[in-house]
Amino acid sequence: MRTERMVGRTVVVSGGASGVGLAAAKGLARLGARVIIVTRSETNGRRATDAIRLDSGFEDVDFVVGDVGSRSGARLVADSVAAGGRGVDVVISAVGSVVERGLTPAGVPRSFATNYLAHFMLIRAMTPLLRATPNSRVLIVGAAPAVIRRLRNVQVDGVDPGITASRALTQSLAWKLLLAHHLERTAPEGFTVNVFHPGLVRSNLLSSAPLALRLVGAISNRFAHTYCAVTDHLASDPTLTGVGGRMFDNHGRSVTLPAVVTDVHAASVWEASILLADRTD
Ligand SMILES: NC(=O)c1ccc[n+]([C@@H]2O[C@H](COP(=O)([O-])OP(=O)(O)OC[C@H]3O[C@@H](n4cnc5c(N)ncnc54)[C@H](OP(=O)(O)O)[C@@H]3O)[C@@H](O)[C@H]2O)c1
Repeated sequence: MRTERMVGRTVVVSGGASGVGLAAAKGLARLGARVIIVTRSETNGRRATDAIRLDSGFEDVDFVVGDVGSRSGARLVADSVAAGGRGVDVVISAVGSVVERGLTPAGVPRSFATNYLAHFMLIRAMTPLLRATPNSRVLIVGAAPAVIRRLRNVQVDGVDPGITASRALTQSLAWKLLLAHHLERTAPEGFTVNVFHPGLVRSNLLSSAPLALRLVGAISNRFAHTYCAVTDHLASDPTLTGVGGRMFDNHGRSVTLPAVVTDVHAASVWEASILLADRTD
């Protein structure tokens, strides 16, 4: 996978304190990008920035404490980034969870709020900064192509509060693809959005799950990567300028999108996302 040095470019990584976000942040710091990670915890932010600096030997690594789980929280994150006075070249949206149950105070299934809505709200909040930078890119964490191929019968006009946790994850994934598709059709300024499969990356996803799942997480972490090569490639390869609305696997190959990804569904998801985001404040 082709990569290029990213000296002078700024990358914002949500979920950057662990897992895929941390792996991506390390790789981009190694390429010389200025990295800003977004986390809800000051302690995690300090630990992650120290780790990224140590790994990359690069000092221009910072963190913003914020919660992209609400529209106002995402705006505060964007304001903090903007206050730094530099544009944003790449946003890597890597928050995610697997064990969340129940509803947010706004009545949205928690799993869907974290795995889809937080990505939507971060992108919306960062849009002015992305538009101010030529050829900026957004990369949203997705899942393995085998999961993508099985996506069907997805609700596109809202989310059922009674949805099961696994259906919430499936719907989140489909909506990420539909969001990327919609923005590809409607964002004229050269700001592209793609979804990627990170491969198997060391993760905290199952660290607060029931014991059996925690063991699965611990075992898979032994085989997992601590870097995410595909984000290095998707963030930096100049031949990908202007390429958006796609899903890439962990080898940087474009994946055929499922039949659910249509212009009509994408427009519906866009409208529904705005309404859902309105409810988070
Ligand atoms: N790891 C893999 O091999 C892999 C493979 C395929 C797909 N994925 C997908 O990648 C996503 C991230 O997985 P990961 O392995 O990076 O997990 P992780 O190590 O648990 O990291 C997830 C990050 O998301 C943030 N987060 C969690 N819940 C949040 C919430 N409610 N609001 C805002 N931020 C929240 C956390 O940030 P703070 O607590 O620091 O704020 C954390 O840093 C998941 O959707 C997962 O399905 C992962």
